[in-house]
Amino acid sequence: MSKKKVAILISGRGSNMEALIKVCQDASFPASIELVISNKKEAYGLEIAQSYGIQIQSLNRKNFPNDNEFDNKISAILKENRIEIICTAGYMKILNADFISMFRDKIVNIHPSLLPKYPGLNTHLRAINAKDKKSGATVHFVTEELDSGPIIMQGSVPIFSNDSSEQLSRRVLEIEHKMLVTAISLICAEKIKKRKDTIYFENKKLSKKGISFNHLMEQR
Ligand code: GAR
Repeated sequence: MSKKKVAILISGRGSNMEALIKVCQDASFPASIELVISNKKEAYGLEIAQSYGIQIQSLNRKNFPNDNEFDNKISAILKENRIEIICTAGYMKILNADFISMFRDKIVNIHPSLLPKYPGLNTHLRAINAKDKKSGATVHFVTEELDSGPIIMQGSVPIFSNDSSEQLSRRVLEIEHKMLVTAISLICAEKIKKRKDTIYFENKKLSKKGISFNHLMEQR
């Protein structure tokens, strides 16, 4: 099977992006990163992507009359490059409904909480303040409702007493990198399919929580 053409949308550091770029260098990995787009020209991830020889684009929202025109430009770039899967990895801007429907079931997001808990921002602090015993990350398809699309995979880590938000964020980020790589690999190898609102993994219907990354790792 040929590699699927993937674009990554970022806004900052780009550590998830780099994890993906690295695995895609392996000839047997079913995806190739064709393009990285940032809505922030100062995003450090752009420098990283460039150092791997990946095409980069940065677009400033201020140069567009509205969000729709901005997203239209991104979708035009994605189409020109015949992108098949779009991964939002720390892309801190909400995509508009037209964009989402144009790329229905093709946009994959990673979010640093166990959704449906803590959509939006400050997820680590919210989990600590709620005295949760665990947190983690979720990979899901993007739909019109923020951080609410069908869940592909969830992975959890413990929250220790006295954890700071930075400590928890580091622990979660470590699992995010592995989860994103695993999920994109399964999607691009067509082992994960979505029909209506249900996700199938190797033709088996998944629960609302998606694949348990922890369980998957125990099996390996
Ligand atoms: C990651 O923790 C990602 O899950 C989060 O931003 C961070 C980006 O880090 N995304 C969101 O909060 C989106 N709602 P990175 O740029 O180093 O990959």
